[in-house]
Amino acid sequence: MQSYPTPILTTDRLTLRPLTMDDAPDLFAVFSDPAVVRYWSAEPWISLADAHEAIAHALGAYRDGDEVRFGVELAETGELIGTVNLHHVFPQNRRCEVGYALASRCWGKGYACEALGAALDYAFHELRLNRIEADIDPRNAASSAVLERMGFRKEGYMPERWFVHGEMADTVNYGLLRSYWDARSGN
Ligand SMILES: CC(C)(COP(=O)(O)OP(=O)(O)OC[C@H]1O[C@@H](n2cnc3c(N)ncnc32)[C@H](O)[C@@H]1OP(=O)(O)O)[C@@H](O)C(=O)NCCC(=O)NCCS
Repeated sequence: MQSYPTPILTTDRLTLRPLTMDDAPDLFAVFSDPAVVRYWSAEPWISLADAHEAIAHALGAYRDGDEVRFGVELAETGELIGTVNLHHVFPQNRRCEVGYALASRCWGKGYACEALGAALDYAFHELRLNRIEADIDPRNAASSAVLERMGFRKEGYMPERWFVHGEMADTVNYGLLRSYWDARSGN
């Protein structure tokens, strides 16, 4: 089986690194916030046990080497403010999906684009993937803006794909090819 280690990546203001069990309180603070999971088909976390379960899943993924799960830390303070994941890695076809979430108090400061930029660069240039997909709720304007800023293109629309907090929700499919990324980054 191909193995995908989660390395440490650094940007101007952030460190992307593997999660550890010590991250549970910070991670709980992020995912217990209803604003963060507003467009997800999952309820906000209600106890620290939810964080322990998610981190145990991440540790399993590190052990099995089948996905890349970064904790996103503020370089200046060392505080964990969210996660970026490369999951559903499909090595034969050199593609995966991306997911990301940050603490709501940190929104609007360019952190998502900064973290995602590092993770995408790693995916294309170290993992040698060719295509990265995202599936988002069309009402999630912040997430659309992040993807479009990163060069993702809208590729499809799937009505009523998810059940989100009591109602059916649509999906917009986005895709980013390595060729778009390299053209954008001037590589
Ligand atoms: C999506 C999310 C990660 C964005 O984080 P962020 O750090 O605020 O994003 P950035 O500051 O890097 O902003 C990126 C772009 O989005 C735009 N943006 C941010 N919030 C926005 C909003 N509510 N509406 C419209 N555009 C928005 C910014 O203006 C910026 O665009 P620009 O570079 O053209 O100015 C954050 O809102 C979040 O964690 N949401 C909850 C989890 C989630 O929905 N994840 C995605 C589902 S997979």
